[in-house]
Amino acid sequence: MTTRGAVLVYGAAGHTGAFVVDELVRRGLAPVLAGRSAERLAGVAARYPGLEVRTARADDPAALRAALDGVAVVVNCAGPFLDTARPLAGAAVAAGAHYLDVTAEQPAVRLLYEELDAPARAAGVAVVPAMAFYGGLADLLVTAALQGERDADAVEVAVGLDHWWPTAGTRVTGERNTATRLVVRGGRLVPLADPAPTGRWPFPAPLGEQPVVQQPFSEVLTVTRHLAVGELTSYLTSGPLEELRDERTPPPPTDGERSSQRFVVDVAVRRGAVTRGLAVTGHDIYAVSAPILAEGVVRLLDGRHRGAGALGPAEAFDATDVLAALEAHPLGLTTVPSAAPRRGR
Ligand SMILES: NC(=O)c1ccc[n+]([C@@H]2O[C@H](COP(=O)([O-])OP(=O)(O)OC[C@H]3O[C@@H](n4cnc5c(N)ncnc54)[C@H](OP(=O)(O)O)[C@@H]3O)[C@@H](O)[C@H]2O)c1
Repeated sequence: MTTRGAVLVYGAAGHTGAFVVDELVRRGLAPVLAGRSAERLAGVAARYPGLEVRTARADDPAALRAALDGVAVVVNCAGPFLDTARPLAGAAVAAGAHYLDVTAEQPAVRLLYEELDAPARAAGVAVVPAMAFYGGLADLLVTAALQGERDADAVEVAVGLDHWWPTAGTRVTGERNTATRLVVRGGRLVPLADPAPTGRWPFPAPLGEQPVVQQPFSEVLTVTRHLAVGELTSYLTSGPLEELRDERTPPPPTDGERSSQRFVVDVAVRRGAVTRGLAVTGHDIYAVSAPILAEGVVRLLDGRHRGAGALGPAEAFDATDVLAALEAHPLGLTTVPSAAPRRGR
């Protein structure tokens, strides 16, 4: 069945937006292709004859309002989200539409939680930033590892990449986001130590033990949105972070195919003397964000979401159910043994 126009993808001409449009079409949806550039969108529309195109700048409220007419779910793939999340999410709430995005930027998530929770509740819609590899996946894994408990003494999130070939959007977003990164200590959000602490993480195959550096992304906000966590520490493999910072590192392929990049996300949650872990592996952090987002879209369309307001991904959706769906997906995830038991105290 084709649900025409119910979903709008803003930033449809971007690298991640292309994966998302593809994924939604694969599921029988007919998303509206949206963004700021008619010229760039025309290139996407040529690949999907019949899909509607709507152009609006993120800083033009009237144009956004017109673009969102009749839309039920807004999917924002246009970053830096410090520029686009607030206007797009605000326009979605005003239009009575749900909102999802793929931001890895902590301040963008924080802003939506602070400013749009009450309006979203009043409008009866869900605003769910960071439904993606960074932010969402760790939130889903941590919540599933807690097996229904709502608190943890300590949470560790370790993201292992074999490479990072950054898109133009990732590079611009990194330059735009100069805010001090936050971690959780003593149950409170506090600045990451400077210099960021380093260590080693015994990742499961295919990565094995790797040097890591503390590098928190939006998962710090998504997890603490709905779980009481004493400490939250996020690690990223050091080599790929250096690749990201090296301007000579090439972008990922842009032919619509997944890159060969491998990732492992391993989380450890400790409650008292018990440490539990969950780890998944897969290919291409950009491509895998599309099925993660799409699991959110279908749940918002068919009512399998919990309530209204500005919500963490695993607060809005059943984490175990979403992870199972992602394991069954051809672009999705494979569960592997977590290093958590070896790190338990
Ligand atoms: N959390 C995660 O795991 C995750 C995963 C994937 C991507 N991301 C983030 O998603 C964003 C996009 O990444 P990408 O790989 O798709 O980059 P990309 O290929 O460079 O695409 C960026 C897109 O954003 C649009 N855009 C940028 N600034 C805009 C603005 N001010 N107003 C309207 N549109 C704007 C661009 O529009 P034009 O086409 O007109 O230039 C383009 O469509 C980045 O912030 C990236 O970090 C996060």
